[in-house]
Amino acid sequence: MQLISKDLLGLKELSKEEISLILDTADTMRLVLSANSKKTSHLQGKSVVTLFYENSTRTRLSFEMASKFMGASSANISASGSSVKKGESLIDTARTIDSMATDIVIMRHQQSGAPHLIASKINASVINAGDGMNEHPTQALLDMMTIRKHKGTLEGLKVAIVGDLLHSRVARSNLWGLSKMGAQVYLAGPATMVPPGIERTPAILCSKVEDAVKDADVVMGLRVQLERQQSGLFPSVSEYARFFSISEDVLKMAKSDAILMHPGPCNHGVEMPTAVYDSPQSVINEQVSNGVAVRMAVLYLLTSRRNQ
Ligand code: CP
Repeated sequence: MQLISKDLLGLKELSKEEISLILDTADTMRLVLSANSKKTSHLQGKSVVTLFYENSTRTRLSFEMASKFMGASSANISASGSSVKKGESLIDTARTIDSMATDIVIMRHQQSGAPHLIASKINASVINAGDGMNEHPTQALLDMMTIRKHKGTLEGLKVAIVGDLLHSRVARSNLWGLSKMGAQVYLAGPATMVPPGIERTPAILCSKVEDAVKDADVVMGLRVQLERQQSGLFPSVSEYARFFSISEDVLKMAKSDAILMHPGPCNHGVEMPTAVYDSPQSVINEQVSNGVAVRMAVLYLLTSRRNQ
């Protein structure tokens, strides 16, 4: 079995079988990462370019490390240091990268749909590393890998996702991915931060955090995306924290063996107190580790498909 598309643009487009293939491959890559030498030759002779129009620590670094571990030639472009600053268009930028025999372009952009646009214009495979408020597929894949490792399966789990639902591409990718894999997603956030059309998705929307978290197997906090806020979505950060922070008392309402997740970066004291972030139930650092394995898996599977 292999991936159907040349690109990885979102989990809405992937089948359950493709998601399982990526997660199984990532489990193998985790074994590679735990070995003394992390080097493989899966991407020998291939070139990978990261094209980031928005800031990133985890996603960008883990893609760069994954590319290097697998022997690819890799290069990085950020909007601030490129001809984008001289006004070059997105399509011209992508075609320029494509003309340099690039195999895979990993792209983050503030505009939803930007990776989909360039994927249709270039030969290289495009990986969506986060597009606006749409999707962040590799984040949800690493989240699912982490959950599966702790719970053994995704089927039948209750997953509570709490916070800024409106702006969260992480929530959207997790909603599509987890639902396809048989988990039930419960969402909770301020009424002003609930995306339109949520009732047409498989999610169950709760008005209170407590209702979403009660007896959950997994509790996932979302970053309040202060950089994307329009005014008036919530009165103040402290008011938001009062009603939507995952406090120790809130976390106690989940199952006793529930795991706590956050995609990072976290606003400590807003999405959750530091004591919860650092609690024994937190798998936040493990999510970061699994990010490298998932990105190795995605790079490997897209390259295998290209080779055929
Ligand atoms: N979770 C996530 O996408 O983090 P970065 O913005 O640091 O890549």
